[in-house]
Amino acid sequence: MTKTAYLTIDGTTYELPLIHGVENDAAVDISGLREVSGHITYDPGFGNTGSCESAITFVSGEKGQLRYRGYPIEQLAEKSTFIETAMLLIFGELPTREERNKFRDMLSEQELLHEGLKHHFDGFPSKGHPMAILSAVINSLGCYHPDLLEIENDEEFVKAASKIISKVRTIAAFSYRKSLGMPFMYPDPKLSYCRNFLHMMFSIPYKAFEPTDEAVKALSQFLILHADHEQNCSCSTVRMVGSSQANLFASVSAGICALWGRLHGGANAAVIEMLRGIRDGEYSVKDVVEKVKRKEMLLMGFGHRIYKGFDPRAKILKESAHKLLVNTGHDDELLDIALELSETALADEYFIERRLYPNVDFYSGLILRALGIPLNMFPVMFAIGRMPGWIAHWWEDRQNPELRLHRPRQVYVGPTERDYVPLDER
Ligand code: ACO
Repeated sequence: MTKTAYLTIDGTTYELPLIHGVENDAAVDISGLREVSGHITYDPGFGNTGSCESAITFVSGEKGQLRYRGYPIEQLAEKSTFIETAMLLIFGELPTREERNKFRDMLSEQELLHEGLKHHFDGFPSKGHPMAILSAVINSLGCYHPDLLEIENDEEFVKAASKIISKVRTIAAFSYRKSLGMPFMYPDPKLSYCRNFLHMMFSIPYKAFEPTDEAVKALSQFLILHADHEQNCSCSTVRMVGSSQANLFASVSAGICALWGRLHGGANAAVIEMLRGIRDGEYSVKDVVEKVKRKEMLLMGFGHRIYKGFDPRAKILKESAHKLLVNTGHDDELLDIALELSETALADEYFIERRLYPNVDFYSGLILRALGIPLNMFPVMFAIGRMPGWIAHWWEDRQNPELRLHRPRQVYVGPTERDYVPLDER
C-alpha cells in the first residue's frame, strides 16, 4: 500500500503522507502543506475534503451502500427499531436487551419538559416555523441543565444524550400543537418512542390517537433511514460548533438550523410542493423536466453530493411508501406522479449524464403525508431522526484528544491594502 504522495510546486517536490481507511478509501494528508510550501488546498463546498477520521457511518456513493457501524442500512431498516439504531450509532454496538431496556427507561424518565420551558412556546407567533422553534427550544434546554453544559465523563454524556433524544419529540409535537392553537398532549410513558410521538401529535383530550402497527413501523423506518449520513452539511455544522467546545445542546441546535435549508433537510417538503404543483395543473411532468434542463429550477429530491447512483435509502422508502399507502388504503395520487416524474427523469439524457437519481427526500414526504404529518413539520421529522447521528459525531470529536478547533482557510480576493478615506472626501 502506497504511504506517500508527492506534490511538485514550482519545481520543489513535497512528500505528503497518505491515510488509508478500512474500506479502500485513501486520503492525502495536507495538514502540514502550508507550513512547508506556503500553499493551502482549495476545495469550495468541501466536496473532496476529509474533515476527520470517523468510525460511525460508511457511505459508498459509487456502490450505493450505507452502513451504520458496519451494519447495512437495509438490515437495520427491516429488523431494528429507531432506539436500538440510535444506541448503535451513539455507543458503537447493538445493545443487549438489558442495555436497551435501561436506555428506554431513561428516555421515558426524560420525556416531560420543565414547566418553565413550556412557556417558551407562548413567545412564538402561531405561524412561527417549527424548525425555528425546535432549534431555539433545544438550545434553551441547556439552560435547564447547567450541570450538563460541561460534560466531563460518559455518565454525563449519556444523561445529556438521552434528554435530547427523548425531549426532541416532545418539543416537536408541542410546536405543532402550538401552531394549531391546540392543547399540548403530555407524553405517555407506556408507549414506544414512535407511538408516543404520534400520540403527542394527534391525540386530543379524552380521545387517544391509536396509530396502526404499519404506521408506527413506517415512522420507525423513516427515522432509522435518517439517523446518520456521515459528514453532511448539518453533521459538519454540529462538529464545527462542537470543536469550539460548545455544549451538546448548542451544537445540535446549530445542526437543526443547517438542516432547515431546501438543499438539505428542507428538500422533502419542496418535493411535495413540486408534486402538488403537477397535480393541481400548474405544470406537467414534462414541463418540470424541461424547466430543470433549462436550469430554471432544480428537480427536488434528485441528485446527491455523494451518491452518483441510487441512494439506498430512496430504494427502501419507495417500497415503504407504496406498502404504507396500500395497507392504510390511503390513496395518494402524489405517489403516481412521483413515479412518473422519476421514470421520466431517469430516462432523460440530462439526468443520465449527470448521474442524478432520487435521493432520500424524493419518497420520504409521501410517507410523512400518509402519517398525517403537515408539510412544515417535514424537516422537523428529519431532525428527530438525525439527532442520534449528530450526538454520535459530537461525542466522537469530544473523545478525540487531537481534536482541533475547526477553522478552514480562504483564498482572499478582496481589495488589497488601501488608506481610509474621510467621509467628506468620498
Ligand atoms: N436538479 C437539476 N440539476 C441538478 C440537480 C437537481 N436536483 N442536482 C444537481 N444538478 C446538476 C447541477 O446543476 C450540475 O449541472 P451542470 O454540470 O450542468 O452544472 C450537475 O448536476 C452537478 O451537480 P452539482 O452542483 O455538482 O451537485 P452537488 O453535489 O453540488 O449538489 C445537491 C448536490 C445539493 C443535493 C443537488 O443535487 C441538489 O440541489 N438537489 C436538489 C435538492 C435536494 O434534493 N436536496 C436533498 C439532498 S439529500 C439530503 O440532504 C438529505
